[in-house]
Amino acid sequence: MYSIIRKALFSLEPETAHNLTIQLLKTAGKFPCHSVLNKLLHVPQGSPKKVMGIQFPNPIGLAAGADKNGDAIDGFATLGFGFIEVGTVTPLAQEGNPKPRQFRLTEVDGIINRNGFNNYGIDYLIENVKKAKFQGVLGINIGKNTKTSVEQGKADYLFCLNKAYAYADYIAINISSPNSPGLRQLQYGDALDDLLQGIKERQKILADQHNKYVPIAVKIAPDLTEAELVQIADTLQRHKMDGVIATNTTISRETVQGIANAEQTGGLSGKPLQQKSTQIIARLHQELKGQIPIIGSGGVDSVQAAQEKLHAGAELIQLYSGMIYHGPQLIKQLVEQIK
Ligand SMILES: Cc1cc2nc3c(=O)[nH]c(=O)nc-3n(C[C@H](O)[C@H](O)[C@H](O)COP(=O)(O)O)c2cc1C
Repeated sequence: MYSIIRKALFSLEPETAHNLTIQLLKTAGKFPCHSVLNKLLHVPQGSPKKVMGIQFPNPIGLAAGADKNGDAIDGFATLGFGFIEVGTVTPLAQEGNPKPRQFRLTEVDGIINRNGFNNYGIDYLIENVKKAKFQGVLGINIGKNTKTSVEQGKADYLFCLNKAYAYADYIAINISSPNSPGLRQLQYGDALDDLLQGIKERQKILADQHNKYVPIAVKIAPDLTEAELVQIADTLQRHKMDGVIATNTTISRETVQGIANAEQTGGLSGKPLQQKSTQIIARLHQELKGQIPIIGSGGVDSVQAAQEKLHAGAELIQLYSGMIYHGPQLIKQLVEQIK
């Protein structure tokens, strides 16, 4: 069935196909009785898992970027996800990079995007979150506006943290998108130290104010040297971060040499990222020694690929590109078979 839908969607430009999918899922999400819809779609329950102090209904999550504005939370929920990460959202609405900015690498089940945090701003997203009926775990992924300099970036993260705190089950700090100039500098040295210190201080204040502790995970890139990875792991531990999401998209083209669209600028996701992100998870796991839970993301396109990430040390799994190539059936299989 999905092969027919995929053929139709792939006949459209990727971002048009994406927007259409969001509209369809938005409509599906309005279906009055979710449990009936889930039964019709034969969506399994999956195995619950406690991570970051949160009870996840199942360990399979939607990665950030698919629902940047939280427009279709209840629609994605009908596919069976145990958790949904909306965003990346920034303080102010911004258009992102000029189109076209998404490209399929169909020969290898890959995608390159250079969206550049196109979103309607945090206030719009929060209104959608308030309306959503999703019973699973909701993560809000936050970033900085492109116009905000890297040096001033912390203020944007704190602004979004203040706004999102009451409505999120966890917050993800995106410092690893390759499409927001200079953003990845925040992953290193004093810049990371200063950012995480500010975030942890604010988390403490907000926890008192709202009388609830909302865990904060940091999302990292796959394009890290050994020394950088060790340093990041050390900084995350020093600041007692609650989780780490590994990984975002890659700027490397090593696995897609000679493939159509491989020359496009942006972050590469999907199958060509699979091994690299799993290697980062394994190395990170060695360094963190189980002190900080890892959410594994990058090229999950099968139960086996998800198992490899779990064996490498991930506790939860996220995906995006695999869903585009394999459809809702993949979510169903993962929810059914991954513990
Ligand atoms: C079109 C597109 C847009 C994305 N936008 C974001 C984003 O806004 N924030 C973010 O943290 N990650 C974003 N990502 C990265 C995904 O969340 C994920 O980490 C990455 O694609 C690897 O997973 P996958 O191979 O399953 O897609 C985006 C990915 C794609 C394909």
